[in-house]
Amino acid sequence: MGTAPDERPFAAGFRSLTEETDLPELKVEGALPGWLRGSLLRNGPALYEAGDRSLRHWFDGQAMVHRFTFDGARGRVGYANRFLDTPSHRAVAQGRISYPEFATDPCRSIFARVFTRFTREPTTNTCVSLTRFGERFVALTETPLPVEFDPATLETLGVVGYEDALNGQVTTAHPHQDPDTGDLVNYVTRFGATSEYRVYRQKMDGGTARELIGVQRARHPSYMHSFAVTRRYAVLTEFPLVVTPLSIMLSGRPFIENYRWEPARGTRITVMDLRDGRLRGVYEGPACFAFHHINAFDDGDDVVLDLCAYEDASVIDTLYLDRARTCGELPLSRPTRYRVGLSTGKVDVERLTPEAMELPRIAYETRNGSSYRYAYGVGARDGRRDDFLDQLVKLDVTTGETHTWYEQGSYPGEPVLVRAPDAPDAPEGAEDDGVVLSVVLDPTARASYLLVLDARTLTERARARVPHMVPFGFHGIHTTDA
Ligand code: CO
Repeated sequence: MGTAPDERPFAAGFRSLTEETDLPELKVEGALPGWLRGSLLRNGPALYEAGDRSLRHWFDGQAMVHRFTFDGARGRVGYANRFLDTPSHRAVAQGRISYPEFATDPCRSIFARVFTRFTREPTTNTCVSLTRFGERFVALTETPLPVEFDPATLETLGVVGYEDALNGQVTTAHPHQDPDTGDLVNYVTRFGATSEYRVYRQKMDGGTARELIGVQRARHPSYMHSFAVTRRYAVLTEFPLVVTPLSIMLSGRPFIENYRWEPARGTRITVMDLRDGRLRGVYEGPACFAFHHINAFDDGDDVVLDLCAYEDASVIDTLYLDRARTCGELPLSRPTRYRVGLSTGKVDVERLTPEAMELPRIAYETRNGSSYRYAYGVGARDGRRDDFLDQLVKLDVTTGETHTWYEQGSYPGEPVLVRAPDAPDAPEGAEDDGVVLSVVLDPTARASYLLVLDARTLTERARARVPHMVPFGFHGIHTTDA
């Protein structure tokens, strides 16, 4: 594979990895905590070429799952990686783009393209995130077609069909756990003359029947990559990146290119009661765009909503592969707090730190939907926009204080917090008792490594070198069940 002269070293993170491996033991430098066990499972794109055609966008690459297994007592780290064997991947591997991806359409004549708009099958390229349906492990993307896999072998078990009639075309790869019931909560967007966001819950018994909580209508649905829950509410943050659903069928453009940036709409925050689907209200704040919510919680008569907020949606354009590999000017998102007065209707906006933050993680098991103290994410050294995300950031959301980890020429991915097993569930202080795991690309060494940091200080405890470069991925989970 050639490297264009204007490509930057981090462009390697936007290249395919075709090699699948299973290594029982990586070389480990430093010392793992003795309590660390289980697996870090990560998802991300790893195949961008279909014959002589290329997928166009970072979010289009075909899904690969990576697994790091830990035996802290023996100081061992194992590694395996495998493509998800989906219809989308099989076609691309055979040189055909057969399903519409986020920003790439199947290659067809204009006539056929218009015709197939009405009949096309959605992609099963679940390259975004991983979650559990009870005991089952599934990979997710923004079409409602989860793909189940075996975490022990990384073998693909197949597309999970939902046993209900919820019918939507678009969903999020970021379901939440209802903080009270433990049910999975998510929504699907049902496109129509008037579209609907259908918020649903799914029992964690391994079944796939979704139960409708409530519906919110929208003439011009927003592109929302994630949403938030508090203990009481589901919160949909409608950024002013909106679509006229008919255009998805008629325009002949790939999915995301049908959405328009209309900042005059502001950001509409829909607050829906998780118990009965009743609409508490729709609130309007200043325009922004975000992929990721950090957390949300009820605070008296307010809902507090923390986002990694961009000024606009131009970040999507900069992540087309030709631009991402050269990266002139990367828009940066910053942790931003929206405080929504449920009775007053007031929306106050406050930036929590000048540091950039993306791919945020919290102590989810104990703090999801509740007040919390720490957020972890990837950031940009000195706020530089002429490089890719190159540092890890820990933010104290109550004080704005930050810690960072940085190593020149290295590009860390999403930091996954793993709390020490005896960490008390105290509301403060214990949230950061544990380690942070991140897969770091070191283009100079033409390799990646798994980095283990102390979650309190972001100082290094250990690293384990992988024998190849792991392409930039999105999201992962730690589990002690695999
Ligand atoms: Co995401």
